[in-house]
Amino acid sequence: MNESIRVTMIYGSAREGRFCDTVADWLKAELRDVGGCELSILDPAELTFSASGPDEFSAAIIETKLEAADAFLIVVPEYNHGYPAVLKALIDSAYRPWHAKPVAFVSYGGVSGGLRAVEQLRQVFAELHAVSIRDTVSLAHAWSQFDSQGNPFRPAQMRGPLIVMMRRLFWWARALRNAREETVYDSAAA
Ligand SMILES: Cc1cc2nc3c(=O)[nH]c(=O)nc-3n(C[C@H](O)[C@H](O)[C@H](O)COP(=O)(O)O)c2cc1C
Repeated sequence: MNESIRVTMIYGSAREGRFCDTVADWLKAELRDVGGCELSILDPAELTFSASGPDEFSAAIIETKLEAADAFLIVVPEYNHGYPAVLKALIDSAYRPWHAKPVAFVSYGGVSGGLRAVEQLRQVFAELHAVSIRDTVSLAHAWSQFDSQGNPFRPAQMRGPLIVMMRRLFWWARALRNAREETVYDSAAA
């Protein structure tokens, strides 16, 4: 089956003045020309969260965008060796829409390039029956990798790992979509 892969790209930061936009804009530009990829955006800055999670309207948007996806691409910074609370609130607000789907990460931060955040997220997604992709794109000292217009200083070096990761993500997305169509995931362990 050669249908497009529907990728929902999730912003991991809702902070005012966030760097997340620079990284996400670069990704959007890179993925625009990738054949067979249909990109949709899920941005917590456009949603409303309280201490108990998203409001009803925001929860419905999250559920719909996750449900429609074949694969997820998470753009995540590192906050105190973890990942932002708003991302956890978004993740926790849904359950079944994550099941039997692949998740890839583009991380950024200081010296670690956000990798500690990614390793924590792998544990979270295992609990949600999602498959995390081994390959990552990690931007150390991310703010020094883009010019003031948001263009990467070394586009080819950044594109290489992204293409590898996206190919693996698409492989898993196709495989799991076929598997979900063949057998309802919930019924596999029944
Ligand atoms: C509360 C907070 C904690 C941070 N902790 C870390 C950290 O542990 N490791 C790191 O590499 N960068 C850390 N940083 C730097 C962020 O990765 C960097 O500011 C990044 O741009 C944040 O993403 P955002 O601007 O999209 O929110 C921290 C930033 C904030 C705001």
